[in-house]
Amino acid sequence: MRVLVVGSGGREHAICWKLAQSPKVTELFCAPGNGGIAQVATCVDVKATDVPGMVAWAKEHHMDFVMVAPDDPLAMGMVDALEEAGIPAFGPRANAAIIEASKAFSKELMAKYHIPTAAYATFTELDKALAYIEEQGAPIVVKADGLALGKGVVVASTVEEAKQAATEMMADKKFGESGSTVVIEECMVGPEVTVLAFADGKHVVPMPASQDHKRAFDGNQGPNTGGMGAISPPPQYTPEMAKQCMEEIFQPTIDALQAEGRPFHGVIYFGLMLTPKGPRVVEYNARFGDPECQVVLSLLDTDLMDVLQACVDGTLDQLDIQWKKEAGCVLVLASGGYPLDYKKGYPISGLEEAGKTSVVFHAGTALKDGQYVTNGGRVLGVTTTAPTLEEAIANAYEAGKHISFTDMHFRTDIGHAF
Ligand code: AMP
Ligand code: GLY
Repeated sequence: MRVLVVGSGGREHAICWKLAQSPKVTELFCAPGNGGIAQVATCVDVKATDVPGMVAWAKEHHMDFVMVAPDDPLAMGMVDALEEAGIPAFGPRANAAIIEASKAFSKELMAKYHIPTAAYATFTELDKALAYIEEQGAPIVVKADGLALGKGVVVASTVEEAKQAATEMMADKKFGESGSTVVIEECMVGPEVTVLAFADGKHVVPMPASQDHKRAFDGNQGPNTGGMGAISPPPQYTPEMAKQCMEEIFQPTIDALQAEGRPFHGVIYFGLMLTPKGPRVVEYNARFGDPECQVVLSLLDTDLMDVLQACVDGTLDQLDIQWKKEAGCVLVLASGGYPLDYKKGYPISGLEEAGKTSVVFHAGTALKDGQYVTNGGRVLGVTTTAPTLEEAIANAYEAGKHISFTDMHFRTDIGHAF
């Protein structure tokens, strides 16, 4: 099969790395890809958000299957457009990807189908939002409705901070139209875990749970990032919780989307908070998480191509997906300054040595005159698996020691922060 993966981060490198191991995949392409992805796939110069361009390229080059990994093209309807062109495509259609693209939609869905989440209200008028914040008091959470690069959420510890956030989103249009509607939520407490699951419209198969580390600095301090590292499985997520989540959250969500005429085919991301009252949904995403994907796919024993096809065909129930009975860790090496301003173009050393005891996924690199250089905020994800979580974490840090570039930044407490 000739297969195209859409995207360019560490997540897409992990997907390409896994697909390259499939005997069914004879030729692998990635658009636009990155320096590291070029080791396992042919990189194609089409932007991930260029829907007509991607469809035209896939048609012209006779792709048998396209895997759309990032949120933006999914929300824009890239899977719909590929299907209309007769090309089998993995990922939810736009009408299901909306569970990530609109927080107001996902909150309404959860309310209608009694899926446990934080209490909330939705506003399109600033004065009503401000009055509600005043009435509820702090702490309270203010969220822009639409996609805002993970920055549209403010967990406010005072009423003043919450009002300022709502004003910036609704009146000052800090996130453009994404903030014309805001969701204001009850503040929940508890450890957060991620459960990624394969879904085929009807059936949902959870992958091993994982845990991202979103803040930039040790001790969960500093600004939110795309994710500074992840582990799997998180010790806080017990088998009893997994069973409860399957019954109260995972299957009900897939059933709800089907009942609404929005069958979800793809990877669904359950961002969960393990509150004293039980697991609650913090957010849905319509795709693999990054960097959770890097750890979880490292634990997958089944051919990923078979799983992706089953999700598209609606036959997940006929597939016995196997996972290594091990633990995993991904340590993100980032550019100094990320998630704010950072410089690019620094040469990276030690990749080969690190690669002897880990798999180093490239998130933001470029190949310049035969030398890998930094080309993004998150640069690399050093990924390991081992019989125990402690060993996986220790091995990731040990392998990471070989790598260096100017201003390299990483957290020293991945796996020990919660
Ligand atoms: P989201 O983009 O919805 O995942 O939110 C980003 C982060 O904000 C989450 O990972 C949580 O740490 C935090 N957050 C979001 N909603 C809530 C909530 N209702 N209560 C407490 N923290 C929250
Ligand atoms: N790691 C969080 C996300 O992908 O949204």
